[in-house]
Amino acid sequence: MSEIHKPQITILETPGKVEEYVADTVIEQVHQAPDSVLTLPTGGTPIGVYGLLTAAHAAGRVDFGNITTINLDEYWPIPRNHPASYASYMERHFFGRVNVPTANQHIPNGEAPYSEAEARRYQEVIDAHAVDLGLITLGPGKTCHIGFNERGSAVDSRVRYVSLDDETTQANLRFFDDPSDMPIGAITQGVADILAARHILFVATGKHKAWGVRRSLSGEISADAPASFLRHHPNVHVILDQPAASLLRSDSVI
Ligand code: PGA
Repeated sequence: MSEIHKPQITILETPGKVEEYVADTVIEQVHQAPDSVLTLPTGGTPIGVYGLLTAAHAAGRVDFGNITTINLDEYWPIPRNHPASYASYMERHFFGRVNVPTANQHIPNGEAPYSEAEARRYQEVIDAHAVDLGLITLGPGKTCHIGFNERGSAVDSRVRYVSLDDETTQANLRFFDDPSDMPIGAITQGVADILAARHILFVATGKHKAWGVRRSLSGEISADAPASFLRHHPNVHVILDQPAASLLRSDSVI
C-alpha cells in the first residue's frame, strides 16, 4: 500500500455534467458485466446520479437485475424507516425505482442491537465480494472523509463503528427534520475496504469541496485526510466540477 499513483482527473463544467459522466460509467460497467458488484455512496452528491440511473432503467437502457450493491455506511443507531437513514435514502433514490434484487442490496443495519456484531457481519459481506466499481464521494469541509472514515482513520482500517466528526454532523444535520434524531455515530466500511475495489470513481462537486479536493489530491497522504489514501490505489478516476477543482493547480497534483 505504500506505492503512490497519480489519479486520472476529469474536470467538467457543471455538477450536471459530472452526474452524467458518473451515471454513464456505471451503465457502461453494467453493460460490460451485468453481474457487477458496486460500492454505493449516499449524501447530496450522488442524488442526481441515482436520478439518471433510474431514468435509464425506466427507458430500458440498463438492467440492474443481476448487480450487487454494497453501501459505504449507515448511521447507527437509526430506525431503518427514518427518512434520513441511508436505508431510506437508497430506497427513495434508487432501490425503490429499479430492479436490484433485494438479496443483492447490502447496507449496514442501523437497527442492529450491537454495533460491533453488526460491523463483523458487514465485514463478512464485504469480504465475500470483489467490487468492480466503487463510487466514492468526499466529505464536507476539512474532514476529507470517505465513507464515514473521519480524520484519524488508518489506511488499513476495516468495517467498524465510528463517531462522526463535528463538521460532518454540522453538514448532515440538513437531512434531519429534528436535529435531536441525528445519531452521533455510524458503521462504515474502512479505508482498506474501499481501496479493495478494482476501479474507483472519486466524485466531488461544488466550491465547498475545493479545499478538501486540494488537500486530498495534492497534500500529504495521511490519516488527517483519509481521502488522500485513494492515491495508493492504481485505478482511481477523479471526477470534479470546475468549482470543486478550483484550488487545484495542474502541476500540484502528485
Ligand atoms: P455530500 O456528502 O455528498 O452530501 O456532500 C459526501 C460525504 O459526506 O461523503
